[in-house]
Amino acid sequence: MDYLQIKRVNSLHGNIKISGAKNASLPLIAMTILANNSVSIKNLPHVADINTLLKLLSNLGAKCNRGEDITTIDTSSLSETKATYDIVRTMRASILVLGPILARFGHCEVSLPGGCAIGQRPVDLHLKALEQMGAIINIEAGYIHAIAPNGLKGCNIIFDKITVTGTANIVMAAALAEGVTTITNAAREPEVVQLCEILNANGVKIDGIGTAILTIHGTDKKLIHIDEFSVIPDRIEAGTYLCAAAITRSELTLTDVNPGHLGAVLSKLQEMGSKFTITENTITIHPSDVIKHVKIVTQEYPAFPTDMQAQFLALATQADGTSIIEERLFENRFMHVSELQRMGADISLNGNVATVNGKSKLSGTDVMATDLRASSALVIAALVADGITNVHRIYHLDRGYDSLEKKLQNVGADIKRLKE
Ligand code: UD1
Repeated sequence: MDYLQIKRVNSLHGNIKISGAKNASLPLIAMTILANNSVSIKNLPHVADINTLLKLLSNLGAKCNRGEDITTIDTSSLSETKATYDIVRTMRASILVLGPILARFGHCEVSLPGGCAIGQRPVDLHLKALEQMGAIINIEAGYIHAIAPNGLKGCNIIFDKITVTGTANIVMAAALAEGVTTITNAAREPEVVQLCEILNANGVKIDGIGTAILTIHGTDKKLIHIDEFSVIPDRIEAGTYLCAAAITRSELTLTDVNPGHLGAVLSKLQEMGSKFTITENTITIHPSDVIKHVKIVTQEYPAFPTDMQAQFLALATQADGTSIIEERLFENRFMHVSELQRMGADISLNGNVATVNGKSKLSGTDVMATDLRASSALVIAALVADGITNVHRIYHLDRGYDSLEKKLQNVGADIKRLKE
């Protein structure tokens, strides 16, 4: 197993190119199930989760050709409709194949994803919506068995709670359904927007893209031709490097980024004292004299993303004063707190609220990554911790960060990947 060894750095400097968004890529790969052609995708990040979903599609019979720049996926030969436990347990987002497979073949089995480190994360909203569209769903022996003997039918769906992959799943199911589906309380994340835009540009009319009400005009099982497209930049990767720059008081330029997707993150960094120069596709963060304390509440887009909570928590350990960070999406998403405490951070947890008393002197030690974003929070803290920090279990990090240590090495960080 690999781990990262990180030494304290004075400051970072240079450019980091932002990769394609993992969370956009996953639904877009699942979307190829709706296509009648071999689909070419540019800018897929080189991260484990993408390989996992491509493996799942290959297991089902699709032909996937992973290139450095362009990946092609041909699902015309897809014959299996069962997503098995061995893959789903490694990546919950495998549930994204349920909607498109069910819509195309009229039946699908997906292993229940189960819990994960950051909370329960049920898929009940996905299933309830598919049932409303005419699916018959049974849970048996750890599997979701879904059939739609008469095909899926458009209907009005109101999500009780905003769900990102739930919205993507139902949009894909609705794309091949008979008639019109309206999703109310839809997720508005840029990753959902890109999925809708690509479907809309390729023969599935969708109204209300980017709003909380989506109206999808189904093709009644007619597969669509999908033209080549490029995945949007990863806003969470970008936010992570901005936190790395802010904590080390560095000047860093991110390229190939979409600043429009980072509104809440940039605004919180500004509150904490950072200054930026922003162009259409670059963000330069300038060194700041102070890091100010902050109050953060995680919510759905366009509010502050839960996927940036851990990194800001690490940054808050170096702020002057007391920061309050409230997690509203996932009940157990504070596993990084105990590891940061071991490094010397002064954090108290009360339910879903973390109180971070800055500024703490951090010391390098052995720490353990517990989930994807917790991993990057530990890397950020390690950049300013005295001595050497070893971040173990970085397979979590490899799920979603493309070449993190190389990108950080290029801007002056002392970070190495070693074997346990
Ligand atoms: C996606 C992102 C993840 C991000 C999260 C919230 C991907 C692959 N992952 O996860 O990085 O942290 O959005 O922005 O895009 N819920 C239910 N029932 C359901 C579905 C969800 O109760 O059927 C709850 C969840 O437990 C959670 C909330 O709704 O409390 C939001 O979850 P959701 O948006 O579905 O997260 P994911 O799509 O799994």
